[in-house]
Amino acid sequence: MGTWAEDKYRLLALYDGLFSTGMKHKWDQRVYIDLYSGAGFSRIRGTNTVLKASPMIALTVTDLFDKYVFCEEEPELMSALKARATRLAPEANAVFISGSCDTEVEQICTAIPRGSSDNHVLSLCVVDPFDFGIKFETLRRISSALVDFVVLLAIGMDANRNYANYVEGNSTKIDEALGNRQWRERWKDKATQRSRFREFLANEFSRSMQSLGYLTTPLHQMKQVRSVDRNLPLYYLALFSRHEMAFKLWDQVLKYSTDQRALWD
Ligand SMILES: C[S@@+](CC[C@H](N)C(=O)[O-])C[C@H]1O[C@@H](n2cnc3c(N)ncnc32)[C@H](O)[C@@H]1O
Repeated sequence: MGTWAEDKYRLLALYDGLFSTGMKHKWDQRVYIDLYSGAGFSRIRGTNTVLKASPMIALTVTDLFDKYVFCEEEPELMSALKARATRLAPEANAVFISGSCDTEVEQICTAIPRGSSDNHVLSLCVVDPFDFGIKFETLRRISSALVDFVVLLAIGMDANRNYANYVEGNSTKIDEALGNRQWRERWKDKATQRSRFREFLANEFSRSMQSLGYLTTPLHQMKQVRSVDRNLPLYYLALFSRHEMAFKLWDQVLKYSTDQRALWD
């Protein structure tokens, strides 16, 4: 991970904390789901700095979630995560699902407690892939429960490097990430410059989430993270929720990160 990952972890830590504490008395069960878990800790490239990554951040919030569901494709990373989670938060109720979140989505859905009129369940699902390799179908299946998503839209470098392949070639990667092929027509109609492709895809993703009943997440409510050394846009971190309340918490995260930037710059 590059030093930009520190921004991601800071924002995730803040949101996980606000969510788990803020929703504690409003819901019977709060569930944390991590689709691309990794091994739990992350070393910042070229340094000796090791940071808590998304699973460990979630396992060390002040008010633990009532249940954790972790999915990771690489078996060695999963074993490391299990060992670390058990050591760091032995009291947490955690389920570990080994394999791709796309092929194991049924198991993931089964692990989310069913909500009812006397058992209100709210989940927070963190989606943190290396690139824009998300499968919208997976999120659609998970969204049949009451789930807020924090998604890392890693379209910065990927969209630039592979633009020709995505737009004119045979790649179906973006079709799968957005869950439709109509984006191609909309992009053609727009006749905008290639440099706006990233923003276009982020807006398209928000549009796809709207089709599942989520509120619109406009671009200005997404946190854009840039590489520290070359100041290149790398990704957007975006919240998707069906409820205004979640955006109130998210606004605090955005405000905090803007204030912090002002302090660092
Ligand atoms: C960018 S890392 C994120 C790790 C972690 N969330 C963090 O905070 O650093 C992505 C992780 O997802 C795993 N992965 C990639 N594709 C996956 C898939 N389809 N399902 C589950 N895990 C996947 C990779 O092995 C890697 O550990």
